[in-house]
Formats: sequence, C-alpha cells, structure tokens
Amino acid sequence: MMGDLNAYLCYLLTRAYFACVPTTRTLWSHVSCALDAAQEELPPDDIMIMILKACIEHPLSSAAPRDPKHEYCVLKWISKEWESRGWALPNSVIKHKALKEPQDCPELCYKTYIGWGGGKNQQGVTLLESCGGIVHHTTGLTTWGGAAVLADWVTNQPDIIANRRVLELGAGIGFTASVVLTTGNDDYLPPRSYIATDCHHHVLTLLQHNLELNLNPEPVMRKTLEAFQESTGKLLVTEEAQIGEMLPWKPISKKLRLSSKTSLISEDEEDNGTYDNMTAFGTTVEVLQVDWRDPPLLPNVDVIIAADVVYAHHLIPPLVELIKGILNGTSSRRKSDKISDHVKMQRLNSMVQKENIKHSSQESLEKCEELYSNNEEMESLKTVEHEIRPNSNSNNPNQDTESLLRNSDKDSTQVDQEERAAYIACTRRTLETVNLFLDEVTKQGLSHSLVYQSTLDTDTFLFLYNETHLPVKIFKLILAPENTCN
Ligand SMILES: C[S@@+](CC[C@H](N)C(=O)[O-])C[C@H]1O[C@@H](n2cnc3c(N)ncnc32)[C@H](O)[C@@H]1O
Repeated sequence: MMGDLNAYLCYLLTRAYFACVPTTRTLWSHVSCALDAAQEELPPDDIMIMILKACIEHPLSSAAPRDPKHEYCVLKWISKEWESRGWALPNSVIKHKALKEPQDCPELCYKTYIGWGGGKNQQGVTLLESCGGIVHHTTGLTTWGGAAVLADWVTNQPDIIANRRVLELGAGIGFTASVVLTTGNDDYLPPRSYIATDCHHHVLTLLQHNLELNLNPEPVMRKTLEAFQESTGKLLVTEEAQIGEMLPWKPISKKLRLSSKTSLISEDEEDNGTYDNMTAFGTTVEVLQVDWRDPPLLPNVDVIIAADVVYAHHLIPPLVELIKGILNGTSSRRKSDKISDHVKMQRLNSMVQKENIKHSSQESLEKCEELYSNNEEMESLKTVEHEIRPNSNSNNPNQDTESLLRNSDKDSTQVDQEERAAYIACTRRTLETVNLFLDEVTKQGLSHSLVYQSTLDTDTFLFLYNETHLPVKIFKLILAPENTCN
C-alpha cells in the first residue's frame, strides 16, 4: 500500500516537473500531501533520493534540454517543503548547481507530457515549445487545453480516424497530432494519413520538429535537440521586429512515413521497394502551411480535427468556409470555383499593393486585368473591385498564383461526402465567440452537434494554468443534407 503511495508521489511529481507546471499550481499541493504520506514509511533522506530521481535526476532530464528556471523553482520548492517539516536538507541538495538562479532562459524548452501517447518506448510526448503563452505574435507556440481534450477524445474514439485521411487545422506545435499518432494498442487502426497544418512559419517549424521527434523510433541525440533549440530560439528573437508577419514555409525534411505507429522510414526506403504496398506503411504524416484566410489547394481528406481555433472573431468566417470547402470536396477544385469574396479581395489588394497601383482608379482595374490575364478569376475579381480598401494588408503577398489555378484532384468527386465530418474542440472563454462560430456554421450550410464536453481540471491540468475550469466542447460539423452533392 505504502509502495503504491510512493509510486503515486513519484508519478505526480514527474508529470508536474516535465510538463513545467509552475510550483504555485494546485498539482504541487497534491505532491506535498503525498510527501506527508511518504514520511510515515521512509526517512527524509530516502524520500529525497526518491523524489530527485522522479524529477531533476530522472533519465528524461538529460534526454532533452529543459527549462533551467523551472528546475530552479522545483528545487527551491523541495527545499521549502523540507524546511517546513523541520527536516535537514541533504548537502547534495544545498550544493546542487540547479539551486543557483539561472540568468538567461532560453526562448524554447522541451516539455514532456507523461501519460499522453508516446508509443511503446516513450512515457509521453515531448514537445519543444515556448516558455510563455501568447508570444511572438502567435498563439501557436504553446500547447492549449483544447488540444488535450481533443487528443483525449479522439484516442478514446479510435473509429473516428481509423484508416481515414485526417487533416488537423491550427495544429500549433503538435500536441494533438503527436498524441493521436503515438497512442494505441494492437486493436487500434491508425489513420491512413494525417496532415497537420498551421499558418505561422515558426509554428510550422516546431510542429515538423516535434512530430519527427515523437514519431522517431530511436531516441534523438540531446546534442541535436540542443542545436535545434538554440537555432530556432534565436530565429524567434531576431525576427521579432517583423511584427506578426508570416513567411512562406516549406518542410526542412521530407514527408514522414510511418511504418507503424512509432517508427519512421524515409521516402527513399519506399522507393527502394523495402515495403510492398501502401498499407504496409501505416500512416503518412505531413505538415502543411494552411492559412484559413488564403488556403492552398488541399488533398482530399475524410476527417478534419481542430482544437482551440475558435477565438478571434474575424477568423471565424474563413475558418468555417475552409471547413465547408474540405467537407464538400471543393477545397481541391479549381480555386475560382470556391474562392470567397473576402479572399478575392485580399488577393486583389495584395496585387494592387505589389504593383503600387492606386486603388479604385480605372488604371487599377486595368492593371489587375493584365496581372490576371489568362486567369478565370478575373471576372469575379471585378465584382469585388469596389470593395478594395486603401492600405489593407494581404496576409500572404507571396501567394503563388499559378498554384491557385491548378485543377482539382481527380478523386474529389469520388469521396463520399456524407462520411466526412469535422470535429472542432472549442474552449469556452466567452459564450459569444462559440455562439458566433455556431451561427456562422449554420449560415454557411453546415449542421453541428455537440459530441463531447469536458472541463479543464485544476488538479491534474498540465497545460495553460489560467484556463482551468473552462468548459471545452467538441462539435461535430457535417454538410447540411441540402448541401451535399455527388
Ligand atoms: C490557440 S492556438 C491552438 C493550437 C493548438 N491547436 C492547441 O490547442 O494547442 C490557435 C492556433 O491557430 C493557428 N492560427 C491562427 N490563425 C490562423 C490562420 N489564419 N490560419 C491557420 N492557422 C491559424 C495559430 O497559429 C495557432 O496554432
């Protein structure tokens, strides 16, 4: 029984330590209670050895560079717990190098979420993420509670993604994707493909890195992780001057192909014929830059998932429009078939700005006509020309217009629209935002139903700490019957 209590103490401590939960949070008061229970069984020095092994001296500590500030705070917390019980602090702790407050903290650190996915060989998923919340003008550099609720729900409903083509919108740094792709047992059929998308180039760089890290069957060398942590952190800081700007992003490495839920092979191996057919490869994983306001052509998929993407009111209409386009298969048709007025307007603005054309003049329209010659979009663009606002910014001025005109994937009409669904986890920060989203869903011809709801739990919560007690609801969106066309 006592052994169980000690195991529980170590488990709590390991979880809180590696997810970088601040020592001021409730989870640490549970650790404190578990310490009280442990003292009935073990002398303080033995408890100390046990708890150091569960955090600072745990093998995971040296596997990846962690947040030195957090390490310092935890050791301070342990020292205070000892003092408050009148226990003598061992010399090893007094002299511990981590008890010296660190001066410089890295921009990005590795966190490990114990108990979340990880496959057969790992205890959880490890993500390189920002030490702050909303930093560098994006919400995408940290893990939000919605990602955890979505990952939990999806992995408990494996049929939803089993052998299906999944696309995640606003995937951030990849918590949901990493958990979904590394959870399961032998009965669990993984998705056929998984496309993790986001818009900001730094977020995408971390997303790709985190997926590679979690899906790699071999441990990645600490030196490699340190080098990546440092170079990416520097980029974040040096590019900060370009407020909120998004740059076009391409993956550094090739598309990931998983031979099983936890192993990775390169496309070269596939080319060499090492594997016989596609089904032997398991899930194909890919990271794509997708801005909801200006999406590229997308492959056909069966299931869309997204966590915590409903928060900014102005992003709701393009987000819903993209979801609808994916569900009805038009996201991979000719762009001119599906492109919305506001996106047309943004594109036109961008072209106008680029060519330094004065807005609303006849010259402007003529120049645009020239720019868009041979482009079927021109006719529809004319209809929105009157809406051009001066000084408006395009979100993606580097849009490759040729790619916008590519023809659709041939099998888009073959996919059964009725089978397609989107599952969107919404954290209810304000009721108004969620209602706006649902109104937009209905307005755009989709129907919605609530499939799951949960509340972020203060006691065990490992994510953003000021968001505990917020309800998270997962809505299923499908095309309203009158909008399905075959
Ligand atoms: C609150 S975060 C949620 C991230 C992740 N799903 C999670 O729950 O941890 C919102 C995400 O949406 C992405 N996002 C914001 N605006 C976007 C846009 N216009 N197009 C695509 N993604 C966008 C952000 O980069 C960020 O990753």
